[in-house]
Amino acid sequence: MSALSNSLNLDSWRALPAAQQPDWPDRAELDKVVAELGGLPPLVFAGECDQLKDQLAAVVRGEAFVLQGGDCAETFAGATADNVRNKLKTLLQMAIVLTYAGKVPVVKIGRLAGQFAKPRSKNTETRAGIELPAYRGDMVNGFDFTPESRIPDPARLLKAYHSSAVTLNLARAFTKGGYADLRQVHAWNQDFVAESPAGRRYEQLAREIDQALAFMRACGADPEEFHSVEYYSSHEALILDYDQALTRVDSRTGLPYDVSAHMVWIGERTRQLDGAHVEFFSRIRNPIGVKLGPTTTPDEALALIDKLNPDNVPGRLTFITRMGASKIREFLPTLVKEVTASGAQIAWICDPMHGNTFEAPSGHKTRRLDDVLDEVAGFFEVHRSLGTHPGGIHIEFTGDDVTECVGGGHEIAEGDLATRYETACDPRLNRGQSLDLAFRVAELYRG
Ligand code: PEP
Ligand code: CO
Repeated sequence: MSALSNSLNLDSWRALPAAQQPDWPDRAELDKVVAELGGLPPLVFAGECDQLKDQLAAVVRGEAFVLQGGDCAETFAGATADNVRNKLKTLLQMAIVLTYAGKVPVVKIGRLAGQFAKPRSKNTETRAGIELPAYRGDMVNGFDFTPESRIPDPARLLKAYHSSAVTLNLARAFTKGGYADLRQVHAWNQDFVAESPAGRRYEQLAREIDQALAFMRACGADPEEFHSVEYYSSHEALILDYDQALTRVDSRTGLPYDVSAHMVWIGERTRQLDGAHVEFFSRIRNPIGVKLGPTTTPDEALALIDKLNPDNVPGRLTFITRMGASKIREFLPTLVKEVTASGAQIAWICDPMHGNTFEAPSGHKTRRLDDVLDEVAGFFEVHRSLGTHPGGIHIEFTGDDVTECVGGGHEIAEGDLATRYETACDPRLNRGQSLDLAFRVAELYRG
């Protein structure tokens, strides 16, 4: 492997500082695992990555909208059929709302089948006076608060690969095997609590879609697009040893693709221009994203473009802005204006989650749905005022009725957070809150 990767310079990142990497206790053990990963089959094909790139190019042109979402941190225990189905169901419902009410083609990308590693703002976690290494995602160490569990274990990289494989297999089966058929629009809503406001609103829309489908069938039209959906996987490529081990040279083009996911992104904490992540990403040919927080300067954004998309290929580079509801209207305009003036072909996506996290009095990390909605509204205002395309949203959600974010149709208060708080990292929107958001985005899009 190393001769090939040297020739393609996939090792170039190793000479640079790599933020947020685990402190593996046994380097030889890591090397063994990396060698094994290097021999395993790809999880996705380069051709599929190119297909997503083409769809993201349509987003750049203002002809489509991205819906990207899933857990903040997937867990190995969470890779069950029920879990994956519930997440897909929520995503499909949101996509239908956007397509039907927003009247725009939706590019569906999961934070799924690989989202197992987390950057942390603190290296350690302290509970009741005991300080241990922070949890860095199931790909690295264990969530349990014990010294043993928090030791980084390279065997977890292999487990992440296999867990990604079963998850992606399920996702492919659900989206291609009939479950995503438009005739299922009601079925996706069935187990939604009958009196749920978002569920009721959705049911009305599903009835309209039914009528439209019946009309089309009567006319003799039954297009293939109604029976399955294109669905793509993505994760933050944080642990570079893992993503490099899963990078393969595409036989069609001779170019390297990270075949652990269709799209990968660089996080807010690892987007240093002279850092290892940006260097590694500059070598792979997948469609990629970069998270941009409120401190990003236009010069930094332009330098990232130079490094990551020097040929200015539309669909190659997506900027995922995560400013915070109180900052987006102040900081986003200059960024978008200068990037647009440079002629760069960029898809702009709004992550309304990561700039809006706070700690509730109970100690739970949470977010207000109102702040999430407000950041999305600010995102649309800024892009509309500049004549640029609000290209999508990137969110953390789950298909279950968790109580991790406050607000929503079934008003969750700060005091309710303990009822069902299950996330391994950041607070996720539950199903009702996700649908509320989708309806709001569809209104903003149309408006
Ligand atoms: C995340 O997406 O879970 C995350 C850590 O985001 P960011 O890099 O934007 O903070
Ligand atoms: Co998160």
